[in-house]
Amino acid sequence: MEERESIIGSKSFTAVAVNCASKAGEWIKSRIGRFAEPDLKYSMHDLVTEVDKGSERLIRNLIGTHFPTHSFLGEEGVEPGPDASALALERVSDAEYLWIVDPIDGTTNYVHGFPFFSVSIALAYRGQVIVGVVYDPSRDELFVAEKGKGAYVHGKPMSVSREATLRQSLVATGLPADHEFALPKNLKQIEALAPRVRNLRVAGSAALHMAYVAAGRLSGFWEIGLNSWDLAAGALLIQEAGGVVSDQSGEPYQLGVRHVLASNGRIHEELKEALAQV
Ligand code: IPD
Ligand code: CA
Ligand code: CA
Repeated sequence: MEERESIIGSKSFTAVAVNCASKAGEWIKSRIGRFAEPDLKYSMHDLVTEVDKGSERLIRNLIGTHFPTHSFLGEEGVEPGPDASALALERVSDAEYLWIVDPIDGTTNYVHGFPFFSVSIALAYRGQVIVGVVYDPSRDELFVAEKGKGAYVHGKPMSVSREATLRQSLVATGLPADHEFALPKNLKQIEALAPRVRNLRVAGSAALHMAYVAAGRLSGFWEIGLNSWDLAAGALLIQEAGGVVSDQSGEPYQLGVRHVLASNGRIHEELKEALAQV
């Protein structure tokens, strides 16, 4: 326990995560509108640019310089599709320290110049996220959490919102690139939720949506078919800001969760039940 506490208490993991996210974010921003035609990954809705790949390289190299023995799971190092993602996570499940990175979350927005995308970096110790950083270069907003030490934006403590019912809630979701299974299900859930909440938002970066739940700007967020790199950092932000993250059946968050349900805690049950009716 003592060893674990000293690991969690280490400033250097967080400092490196923050440094990586801000360096990558600045670089991404400097390349807006200056990259070759994007490639398609899993489907025509799933894009990747040379900037995604460059950002991941930059982060991987920086982390490797500081912590050469740590394991690394980055989106661009994994074949597209849900099976390959699950397998990649399985392969690193024994890692002591595992960095989980989405070098640009919201690539479609990035490609179109819609300023809602982020860099997401998490560090897990034996499968438990201990550091989470989400950086929004467009607004220069850095969201940081350390396990047991709270969540911060621009150095100010964050806490989740106080809405107690769906009727009062602003809730976000995503439109998944997987149009076989994930999208149809999510669309049905949108249909079910829209009349019951104050309003819905679909802004195109799961990691930033999660950070917004932590910051109390959204009451909740759900999506079908996400990957560990979309969620790991944001999950810690929300938990440290007093919220709840689970899968859609209410099982507590762990790295393998794909169908996420995140909220301020107060609306969690109601949101879970509303989604389960679909
Ligand atoms: C995507 C974004 C989007 C979500 C998709 C994700 P990417 O990540 O988070 O908001 O709806 O399901 O795949 O591909 O831009 O890293
Ligand atoms: Ca992503
Ligand atoms: Ca990405």
